[in-house]
Amino acid sequence: MNTPDILTVRSITKTFASRGRPAAKALDAVNLSVSEGSIAGLVGESGSGKSTLIRCIMGLERPDTGTIIFDGTDMSVAGREEWRKFRQQVQLVFQDPFSSLDPRMTVESTVGEGLVIHKKSMVKNHRRELVATALESVGLSASDMNRYPRSFSGGQRQRIAIARAIVMRPRLLVCDEPVSALDVSVQAQVINLLKSMQAESNISILFIAHDLAVVRHLCDSVSVLEHGKIVESGRSTEIFGNPQADYTRSLIAASPIPDPAVQREKSRSSLAQ
Ligand SMILES: Nc1ncnc2c1ncn2[C@@H]1O[C@H](COP(=O)(O)OP(=O)(O)OP(=O)(O)O)[C@@H](O)[C@H]1O
Ligand SMILES: [Mg+2]
Repeated sequence: MNTPDILTVRSITKTFASRGRPAAKALDAVNLSVSEGSIAGLVGESGSGKSTLIRCIMGLERPDTGTIIFDGTDMSVAGREEWRKFRQQVQLVFQDPFSSLDPRMTVESTVGEGLVIHKKSMVKNHRRELVATALESVGLSASDMNRYPRSFSGGQRQRIAIARAIVMRPRLLVCDEPVSALDVSVQAQVINLLKSMQAESNISILFIAHDLAVVRHLCDSVSVLEHGKIVESGRSTEIFGNPQADYTRSLIAASPIPDPAVQREKSRSSLAQ
């Protein structure tokens, strides 16, 4: 039996009106799905529409047409209670850990904020315990709770952002280029953290990136977005092993591959073309 989808994006189109110029289609009939317990990748160059799609999924932007289905619920007709459930069960991690954390809030308030909003009856001590556990599960320490974001490195801040998301025990984690602002060595740590978290729980992840090497390492499936259109999607092994669209081939050719043997093979095959 096929695993059910936790998220289905069905034929989303989004146009931005711009004065004096014809309206630009940022998304054009986009379909995408994340099956439960998997890591799905979405790749595309800058401006291809990745963040716009995330904003539509999160309900921050209203698509012109199309639907978002979360756990069987069509969110375009969802009521208050269903949106409340969605806001708890779908958590977002942003690209830039420097601007996404409020510098005036301690780590404890930052990570515990969602619990304060969604679990109003939870007593403070219980919340502290959950915050401490979330911090430890991302490789930070419970003793970091009283510190402020400015005293952490970029990689540590992104761990705080991930702790803030996972403390809610979400079913879906949406990561919009979560490692693009980080050094390569720190990128690997954050990627490995996401991978091990996913293996330990049954969380599903939608991971947005323009770096194909990262997606190849992390994602079970991948969708390729070019100028607002999905040009190719499928299992990562198939897409990377046998890309069909020219655009995917050019993205792969432009992406460095960490494995020297694969890189040698790539150089040889591009010389042969
Ligand atoms: N609020 C807006 N008003 C007008 N145009 C917009 C708006 N938001 C996005 N766009 C346009 O939509 C297109 C897609 O932008 P988007 O931010 O989704 O790209 P992206 O793939 O996330 O790029 P990046 O990798 O740089 O983050 C771009 O042409 C952008 O200029
Ligand atoms: Mg973006």
